[in-house]
Amino acid sequence: MALKDLISKNRSYRRFDESFAIDYKTLERLVDLARLSASGANRQPLKYMIFNTPGECSRIFPSVLWAAYLKDWDGPEPGERPSGYIVILGDKSISEVFGVDHGIAAQSMMLGAAEAGLGGCMIASIKKEQLRNELNLPEQFEILLILALGKPVENVIIDQIKDGDVKYWRDEGNNHHVPKRPLDELIIIL
Ligand SMILES: Cc1cc2nc3c(=O)[nH]c(=O)nc-3n(C[C@H](O)[C@H](O)[C@H](O)COP(=O)(O)O)c2cc1C
Repeated sequence: MALKDLISKNRSYRRFDESFAIDYKTLERLVDLARLSASGANRQPLKYMIFNTPGECSRIFPSVLWAAYLKDWDGPEPGERPSGYIVILGDKSISEVFGVDHGIAAQSMMLGAAEAGLGGCMIASIKKEQLRNELNLPEQFEILLILALGKPVENVIIDQIKDGDVKYWRDEGNNHHVPKRPLDELIIIL
């Protein structure tokens, strides 16, 4: 698939067919894409935790906060929840700062997921203390991002932004709309 098509397909999906199982190897392959990605000063301070069974996923879900702009939606219902998660951690024994490494790693993994016919959402709104306790996570690790992954069951439409309103929204058909700014607004010519 051409890169632009892959990036266009790689939307944030928040509703999934929860009966679809993602095998551990698939998620491990995504982490391998992160492994090969750029890292500031090549410090490579990121570590990853993989969760793919229903029992494991039910430990992560309560710590994830979904779609802040959709005020009347509390997140995916049972049956539409993710089938896997990758938790991105910063290993403070390697570096105290993680820069933009986790964003780069996350995008590599999301593109890999899209290529594999999966979809998901990067999650930064995390109940971090709750998750730390649930995972018994040593202080050495900082929770940076979660990727929630699955077989998407929602339709996401990219719209041209109107009146500068960046909020995503859902229509009567439950299609998810994502406004994007036009290219000529992004490129600054002085
Ligand atoms: C760093 C980062 C953190 C995000 N955190 C959350 C989050 O906590 N919860 C959520 O539902 N979506 C989250 N998102 C998804 C964004 O809302 C989404 O990228 C945005 O609405 C644009 O949609 P698109 O990814 O389909 O282009 C996050 C995205 C990024 C890049």
